[in-house]
Amino acid sequence: MKKQKSFVYRCSACGHEEPKWLGRCPECGEWNTLIETAISGRGGPGTGYNSGSGGGRSGSIPRSFPLSSIDPEEGSRIGSGIPELDRVLGGGIMKRSAILVGGEPGIGKSTLLLQAAAAAETKGRILYISGEESAGQIRMRADRLGLLGNSAGNGSAKGSSLGDRIEICCSGRLEDINALLESVKPVLIMVDSAQTLFTAEAGMVPGTVNQMKYCSFELISWVKEHDAALFLVAHVTKEGIISGPKTLEHMVDTVLYFEQNEGDSRFLRAAKNRFGSVDEIGIFTMGEKGLSAVEDTSLLFLVRREGDLPAGVATAAVLEGSRTLLVEIQALTVPAKGSMSRVFSDRIDSARVSRVAAALEKHLGLRLSDQDLYVNVAGGIRINEVGVELALGCAIYSARTGLPLPAGLVIAGELSLTGEIRPVRRLAGRIKTAKGLGFERFIGPEEGAEMVRDIKSAIKLIFSKK
Ligand code: TYD
Ligand code: MG
Repeated sequence: MKKQKSFVYRCSACGHEEPKWLGRCPECGEWNTLIETAISGRGGPGTGYNSGSGGGRSGSIPRSFPLSSIDPEEGSRIGSGIPELDRVLGGGIMKRSAILVGGEPGIGKSTLLLQAAAAAETKGRILYISGEESAGQIRMRADRLGLLGNSAGNGSAKGSSLGDRIEICCSGRLEDINALLESVKPVLIMVDSAQTLFTAEAGMVPGTVNQMKYCSFELISWVKEHDAALFLVAHVTKEGIISGPKTLEHMVDTVLYFEQNEGDSRFLRAAKNRFGSVDEIGIFTMGEKGLSAVEDTSLLFLVRREGDLPAGVATAAVLEGSRTLLVEIQALTVPAKGSMSRVFSDRIDSARVSRVAAALEKHLGLRLSDQDLYVNVAGGIRINEVGVELALGCAIYSARTGLPLPAGLVIAGELSLTGEIRPVRRLAGRIKTAKGLGFERFIGPEEGAEMVRDIKSAIKLIFSKK
């Protein structure tokens, strides 16, 4: 076997590693950033904790196990005590996993982690590491949220021992944290934020991506070996620095992003999840007592109206993971300002909007190609589900013709290029939700709804006077 080199050239900007020195990092394109770096016992970031031999601990012999001999309970979950968070995680915090929580400053990442630390369904200790806030600030927040005492709060308080179960450390220095891990032996580690971690081992410049990757990797390795779980906060700002947290994504098991709409609801979405689906979203509002679940999410994306609907508005029943949401789709068409018509749609993929508009133009003879098309979803939620297409088509038709849809009507269905309406998943559940909320009519592609097979008959059914 070839003898391994004891060092690599690591980019101090992005953490990329090369066996040979190069003037320019092939990963991030920065010049003169490759620095000779010793390969540490763990193999360093980028080699991966599960890379088998080579990158493993020095002296350890790689082993394999018969599949049948492995304990399926290994890595079972800890409830976070926050149902919306558990939902997104796929049923709780998987032990030995690392979870990245990204989002813009002020969205509520620190609040979420502190609430989860207080509510987590474990008897073990929790280490809350903050390089962002002082211990006093954290305590004040905990008091304000009513996490420690016998407050009415959100029911997450678990008696007086709670304040002792959570250990606070306000250092981002990896050497300090490592020492604490050995003495505290936490089952849950919250790091706020990955960007404040540093160690002298990872190059001279603190605050670099390399520092963040190196330190995060060390902590991830620790939780894998000690049956614990790790939350890593990462700030993401709109302008730039997205490369920072992005480089952590492949190292962790789960990536959650926190986002906000124009209202005060906040959505927690999984961008990656080794232990669950990425379809589920968590819906929160931020209030006096921190983040709380929204009682009735099915109504969150509707606009309350008396009487008739304006033109350009249709109500869709869409699925977000296991949840049915009723959303108001709003469309507007105006004569194109340029020589080309354009689609402006943030909440529904523009390609989907263009495709639906093309199908309407072809199968209804509705002229849209000389129109600019604006589409929005009330409440600012992004919709990726195909079941929205028929309602989207109806909203566009209504906008273009000026004919409003009847009130009290909900729509679900996929619109194919041929003009046919295709079945969607769990139609019965969508109908049940809509009826439960007092909607009288439901139009969809299957029995149980007022059944429509193609866009032409759907438009006829909806827009002909009863
Ligand atoms: P924070 O969790 O600090 O956000 P992040 O860690 O993502 O930067 O808090 C976000 C905002 O929420 C902050 O501006 C204050 C506000 N907030 C409340 O409205 N109520 C509360 O109970 C708390 C703790 C914060
Ligand atoms: Mg914070």
